[in-house]
Amino acid sequence: MFKKEVYTKRREELRKRVKSGLILMVGNVDAPFNYPANHYTFRQDSSFMYFFGIKKQKFTGILDIEAGEDYIFADDFDMDGIIWMGKMQSVKEQAERVGVSKSLPVYKLDQVIKTALEQGRKIHFLPPYRAETKITLSALLGIPTAGLSEAVSSELIKAVVSLREIKEEREIEQMEQATDIAYLMHTMAMKMAKPGIKEMEIAGMVEGISLASGGPVSFPVILSQNVHIIHNYDHSAFLEDGRLLVTDAGHENELHYTSDITRTIPAGGKFTTKQKEIYEIVLAANENVREGIKPGILYRDMHLLAAKTITQGLKDLGIMKGDVDQAVAAGAHALFYPHGLGHMIGLDVHDMEGFGEDFVGYDDKITRSDQFGTAFLRLAKELKPGFALTDEPGIYFIHDLIDLWKSENKNSDFINYDKVEQYRDFSGIRIEDDILVTETGSKVLGKPIPKTVKEIEDMMQS
Ligand code: GLY
Ligand code: MN
Repeated sequence: MFKKEVYTKRREELRKRVKSGLILMVGNVDAPFNYPANHYTFRQDSSFMYFFGIKKQKFTGILDIEAGEDYIFADDFDMDGIIWMGKMQSVKEQAERVGVSKSLPVYKLDQVIKTALEQGRKIHFLPPYRAETKITLSALLGIPTAGLSEAVSSELIKAVVSLREIKEEREIEQMEQATDIAYLMHTMAMKMAKPGIKEMEIAGMVEGISLASGGPVSFPVILSQNVHIIHNYDHSAFLEDGRLLVTDAGHENELHYTSDITRTIPAGGKFTTKQKEIYEIVLAANENVREGIKPGILYRDMHLLAAKTITQGLKDLGIMKGDVDQAVAAGAHALFYPHGLGHMIGLDVHDMEGFGEDFVGYDDKITRSDQFGTAFLRLAKELKPGFALTDEPGIYFIHDLIDLWKSENKNSDFINYDKVEQYRDFSGIRIEDDILVTETGSKVLGKPIPKTVKEIEDMMQS
């Protein structure tokens, strides 16, 4: 937990940015796994964490804009709670630790909301993403759960995004720490990736490092020799000699700050010439973006820079052809690079994505492309100092997509389909780093994780 002044100041800023009414922030409760008492590891809501800092179940916060007051609603443990869970600091003490002097039992929340509604005051809330929160909001506000999405406050969303998207120094320290843990996770995968091992043996160790370091993985580990399945959570294959292995995994630390790193490595520790050639193209795309990141540029332009680097590289190998700019404008690169370059990262691994991607990655000046590939770009808007984001280009050979485009003769001015056939079983390569936008450029977060061909081969053989 940060000092109480941090949370007081954040709430004060939020109250300034939302004109009037009450801001209602419902914290998370335990979510059942297979029966009520057996639940998933508790995860606090990220915005509740940001403004109220309390990592406990069944807490709700209210910011009263006109009164300039904040409230916490929660109940102290009864004897049953103490017996099973141990003594908990009183709600009053917990609230005071984050600068909230007014704490009330949960049953009073209903009355506070009812009075505000009777007075015609606006109640702002963020888009709920959990069923339990939807039910709570529905009961408090008298809105059917199906109607909640229409009632969310875009004014509040914009205000929260404007605060959370600029990472404070103390948050950057947390993210550096989360990325340092990712170093341990990824170097473990590199050392274990020998032919014959089952993917889940590596995935389990990767996840174990995260847990042993203070928190869960920031999203389910993606670890597979079928790299062309971009979000492949299946870990049932035995690693085959000569195959590539992708590990896309990050840590979420005790304060919920996340990392999200991808490395693609050769099973057995040595890239083949063919693998090296494609690897160098993806690495160049990743590096060109890192060098290009600075305040004032559009991240969409970095996505297109990655697309151009990939197109040029594939053209040099004879897989693509024609004018690079025209090929990218036509979207031809998306046969091999069918996703966006990256996303914001912070308290959520896709930071604030639950508010709606367009609220976070786009603004009044830039709208989402409808072209296959670029349409999936999560972050496109102008970069500001303090943004933390991912840089994650990739090249994949996806059989079904190749077959579809080929059957339609799609972008045949830019794609050598005969040559593509020689790579049909290549699978793919993705490389991802977490990057902070600084006043003058960028900084890669965390301890450098082996990334060049030589660094990876050296680590794998160590
Ligand atoms: N690293 C997984 C993702 O960004 O979707
Ligand atoms: Mn990512």
